[in-house]
Order: sequence, then C-alpha cells, then structure tokens
Amino acid sequence: MHLTWNRKDLISLDLLSKEEIESVFTVARAFKASLGNHKAKTTLLDGRSVVNLFLEPSTRTRLAFEVAAKRLGADSVTVSAAASSLTKGETLRDTARNMEALQADILILRHPASGAPNYLSKVVDIPVVNAGDGSHAHPTQALLDAFTLLERFESLDGLNVTILGDILFSRVARSNILCLRKLGATVTVAGPSTLVPNDFASMGVRVCHDLRSALEAADAVMLLRIQHERQTSTHFPSIGEYTSMFGLNQERAAWLKPDAVIMHPGPINRGVEIDSELADSNRSVILQQVTNGIVVRMAVLLLCHSFHTGEAIQLPQLNS
Ligand code: CP
Repeated sequence: MHLTWNRKDLISLDLLSKEEIESVFTVARAFKASLGNHKAKTTLLDGRSVVNLFLEPSTRTRLAFEVAAKRLGADSVTVSAAASSLTKGETLRDTARNMEALQADILILRHPASGAPNYLSKVVDIPVVNAGDGSHAHPTQALLDAFTLLERFESLDGLNVTILGDILFSRVARSNILCLRKLGATVTVAGPSTLVPNDFASMGVRVCHDLRSALEAADAVMLLRIQHERQTSTHFPSIGEYTSMFGLNQERAAWLKPDAVIMHPGPINRGVEIDSELADSNRSVILQQVTNGIVVRMAVLLLCHSFHTGEAIQLPQLNS
C-alpha cells in the first residue's frame, strides 16, 4: 500500500496534496476495518504521549483525539486553559516548550487565535496538530467530513456540496472548501450576505444568497451554527429571523435531491440552523461524522508521528 505524507505537522489543508489527503483516508479505512465495533487497541504508538492543549471548549474534537491516541496505544493527557499556568501569565510558547520537556511526543492544539498552531509548530520540534484555530482552520474536521461523504458517494469528483450558515467566521467552512475542492467537489456557500460575503468566490466556490437554489443543487448540505463567540458586531437582526430565512426545516429539506445527505460538524443548535427532526432523520450523517473522527484522527496522529521519527508505518490488515 503506497502512502504519501510529507509533514510532521497538520496546520491547514492548503498545503496538503490530494495524495496526502487520500493517504489519510487509506489509513483511516484500515483502522475502521480492523477496529470494527470491538474497539480493539493497537500498539502503533505504544509508549508515546499525546498532549491535548485545548484552550477553547470542545466535546467532539477533544474526545476523538483522546480516544484516537488511546486506540493507538499512546498515553493521552488533556490540558484546558483554566487548569494550566496560562492563567498565571505563562506564554503559549513556554507552555508548549514545557510540554515538550515533559516528553510529549505530539501536541494537539485548539486555540481561539488564528495562527496559534502554526506559531507553535515553529517553536517546538514535536508534531503539532491543529484542532481548530480561530476562524482559520479545522483540518481534521474537514478530513472526517470528506471521509464520511466517501462512505456514501463513490467519489467526490463532481459532487455538489452546499455549506450553509455562518461562513464568514467558520474555520470548518474554510477547511472544507480547501479539502472538497482538492477532491474535485463543486462547493456552494450559502446564507445571508452579511455572513457569506462575495469575497469567498476567490476560494473557487459559488456564493449564493438564494437558499432554494443552493439546496436544489446539493448532493450534501453541510450546516453551520452561528459562531457568536467570534462575532464582534451584529450580522442579522435576531436568531428567530435568521432561522426564518436560512434555517433548514422540513419544507426546505424537500428542495434537496432525494438522496442528498445532511451534515453538521456540531455542536448543533436545534431549531436554529436545523430542525430537530431533520438532525435525527435518516438523511442525517451527523453522528457518523463524529464516529469517523476517531479513525481519521488516528490516521493523522500516525502519519505525523511516522514522518517525524522516520519510522515505517505498519498498518493493520484490511478485512476482506
Ligand atoms: N466539530 C467540533 O469542532 O466540535 P467541538 O467543538 O465539540 O470539538
């Protein structure tokens, strides 16, 4: 099995080649096939330590990285902002360098500031994996989203994906645009013009403020919540008015193709960007996305670590 991977860090998807993205999927598929439902552990990162430095709240990403590290046989330690000496004035650089001195082998960083993981990757020698930085990037989310789509569709080449919601403040949207376009998908970004500025066309996507048109074309619709924590001014009159104009409800879901899937990176704001029944419907792959986050992150941890150490990658055998 040929794998292409040329980096110790995963900061953003802009520099990743299509072959590197496909290598993540190859490794993730091998894990998914071999781990199955019995959650078997491997010893591929036996004796290694993965530190999760999460300086913003997280449920899915943090837990998936913790589970991924443990399934690889590594120790996994999570540090939050409140429980760290960052509250006493220590810098991010010193925090990371101390983690390295404490023999961390991989550092996972979620940070409210765009660019923080890139900065850390320059000040420590160990691999740094971006678990979401400001509105810049969330590369493992986009990888698991594409991986989930590939379980439903044979190829992403020519697939129409609509990303609907707060695009302006979304790192998930930016990373998904990069990933989906590299894999050949046609991407539409949709929502109110204040949250979906025409500037996004420069990323090679269709910018659409007409919800019906954006939904009718879609093979998959990816919903995003309003990122209140990043907005410094008001971009629409009220949540109720946003929902009435752009929320996905049963009537609007009927505009989708019959086999179109509904995605959401979570956390969901039920009754705001998505009707609660639709989130739980058989068109929704939202929880498959979450589950796939484990094997995709196992693949990313293994690829970054192997590139850094020069160790050959031993994959579990694929079940026939
Ligand atoms: N999708 C995502 O990043 O969710 P969390 O914030 O819960 O990690």
